[in-house]
Amino acid sequence: MVPANLATLAGRLRGARRVTVLTGAGISAASGVPTFRGAGGLWRNYRPEDLATPEAFARDPILLWEWYAWRRETIAGCIPNAAHEVLARWSQGDGGATIVTQNVDDLHLRAGTTRLVRLHGSIWELSCSRACAAGSAPWRDERTVMPGLPLCPHCQAPARPAVVWFGEALDENDLRAALEATACDVFLTVGTSSVVYPAAGLVDHARQRGAFTAEINADATPATALVDLAIHGGAETVLPELDRLIAVPRGLV
Ligand code: OAD
Repeated sequence: MVPANLATLAGRLRGARRVTVLTGAGISAASGVPTFRGAGGLWRNYRPEDLATPEAFARDPILLWEWYAWRRETIAGCIPNAAHEVLARWSQGDGGATIVTQNVDDLHLRAGTTRLVRLHGSIWELSCSRACAAGSAPWRDERTVMPGLPLCPHCQAPARPAVVWFGEALDENDLRAALEATACDVFLTVGTSSVVYPAAGLVDHARQRGAFTAEINADATPATALVDLAIHGGAETVLPELDRLIAVPRGLV
């Protein structure tokens, strides 16, 4: 017997012309990527809000790079899970879903997602911490063994991860693309604690523009009370189940 809320969401997705999915760290949890908040979400007792800032980098760039080197090494050993694979399929082809992610692990990319907005950048890209003319555009660096302090190849200043830190603005093209994607029929928020803005505000934006909104998360979040429908469970089991239901002819679910 299929739970009623899953069947309802599958019906909405089947009838939708435009679908947008916002993802957070929870979608990569089953791949082995640690989440930021909750059990196991901390690194040496530092909170991400204290480490992921320009001030923390200016104070102690080597400590920051230790954290990022640890995360890069961890992520390098992870592969996309069933949830990434379902979203990659949904994104492909004309009229495919737009996937907006807060994750910097690139597992959506590795799964083959085509219509992807990486709101917080990529941990596999670096940029010049002094934003020199040639080094302000991010470059790819997939080394898992990093020097203690990687340098900008153009001006030799410390390089930084090309990710968005607290207190920094999102890339305006990414933010515009994410806001445009809130004009949709169904907006899903998956595996995010919904506390970091502006990403956390997108679901409400979509709701105000008339989208049917739903949350898939292991736990309740501030978005739970806002959405039309909330499903509690792991993204890696709920999304494949939804995918299966969408393929079932109407009336048979
Ligand atoms: P969080 O670590 O804050 O939240 C992860 C969410 O995933 C929690 O609500 C968990 O309950 C849920 N979760 C855990 N396992 C799950 C599973 N298997 N399936 C579904 N849900 C699961 O991560 P984010 O919300 O992504 O920002 O964090 C937002 C931002 O805060 C990050 O992008 C990062 C961080 O600081 C920057 O780096 C700028």
